[in-house]
Amino acid sequence: STNPDIVVVGSGFFGLTIAERCAVDLGLQVLVIERRSHLGGNAYSEPEPETGIEVHKYGAHLFHTSNERVWEYVNRFTSFTGYQHRVYSTHDGQVYPLPINLGTINQFFDAAYTPAQARALIKEQASELGDKEPENFVEKGVSLIGRPLYEAFIAHYTAKQWQTAPEELSADIISRLPVRYTYDNRYFNDTYEGLPTDGYAAWLAKMADHPNITVVLDTDFLADGVADEFKGKVPVVYTGPVDEYFGNSEGRLSWRTVDLIPEVLEVDDFQGCAVMNYPDPDVDFTRIHEFKHFHPERSYPEGKTVIVREYSRFAEDTDEPYYPVNTAEDREKLLKYRDLAEREPMVLFGGRLGTYKYLDMHMAIASALSMYDNKLRPHFADGAELK
Ligand code: FDA
Repeated sequence: STNPDIVVVGSGFFGLTIAERCAVDLGLQVLVIERRSHLGGNAYSEPEPETGIEVHKYGAHLFHTSNERVWEYVNRFTSFTGYQHRVYSTHDGQVYPLPINLGTINQFFDAAYTPAQARALIKEQASELGDKEPENFVEKGVSLIGRPLYEAFIAHYTAKQWQTAPEELSADIISRLPVRYTYDNRYFNDTYEGLPTDGYAAWLAKMADHPNITVVLDTDFLADGVADEFKGKVPVVYTGPVDEYFGNSEGRLSWRTVDLIPEVLEVDDFQGCAVMNYPDPDVDFTRIHEFKHFHPERSYPEGKTVIVREYSRFAEDTDEPYYPVNTAEDREKLLKYRDLAEREPMVLFGGRLGTYKYLDMHMAIASALSMYDNKLRPHFADGAELK
């Protein structure tokens, strides 16, 4: 389509939600420009070629939401399995359930505490610092769950995630560490949870499957000539990195990335669950995902499984940006970019890269739906200025 009514940069959940709404609800011609060679953004998945096991290419994606509107919306494109996420942790030669719960506590202290006894114990251990304001990550962690559990499950795990000694990390990386005084180890508390029955790639492709939507892959909006063709002429929704859009004029925003190292193993079942954390300092990865456990309802070739080890580190320029580091410096730069973004005519910035915010999938979708309601629909349907 050479004359789109609107251009969407990026085909992740944010961009595809905008594209789908504009095409279906308003009948607009939508051009989606994607620099990768596949659509779908970071939630994309593909079958591992040897086993056919669906692997989430940019890290494991668990769908969960309590937002009724988002749940209704996503069910237009896919059904969901009844998958419930649970995580385990291998510490000092034993496997414990997470998040820290009564089972974790009783196993760890080799005890049979009631909920009230466990609560009293953790409260006492957490009071180690008295009234002192926690000054760094360690003190904050200890003040939330006490030193023994903090050191076993949090300290080294966090050090590996940040490649930084916890003493040097800021206290505000954590505001709370959930401890459950029951044996419930369900990871998410949301009303709705599940995995797309036919996988993420099919779900994402379905959102773009409309005669008014054209997706162009392998095309960088910021490469020579592309942006100039559309900027200032048609509305653009940009979901790429906000700093890149402005040529990094205010400096680069910092991100953490994760190296995901897949391996096919000649066993039916490697670890018996989808995610095993490794919180000890003698193991250099943070966790292992075994992808067949996400879809126990599927059938798989015998004697094979796919595991992915995760190594966390600060992102270099060419790495995939995954989690905003969000230092004070980053926040200062972001304010300047927001200023520039507001003054950019006919361009709206959205999504996790466009706003420099970690967004879960349901949040990215909810945020796109409100951009559509509050800005795009009023503009196209009622002629409101695009601001
Ligand atoms: P997303 O990054 O998906 O899409 C942006 C797209 O824009 C990309 O395809 C990119 O190639 C493209 N692009 C960028 N610049 C461009 C340019 N100049 N030109 C053209 N295209 C350009 N959420 C959740 O709910 N449950 C979970 O378990 C997880 N797990 C998880 C693990 C990890 C490691 C990460 C990093 C993230 C998650 N998420 C998650 C979050 C989830 O990935 C996130 O909500 C969505 O990716 C957000 O969609 P966006 O469209 O905002 O960005």
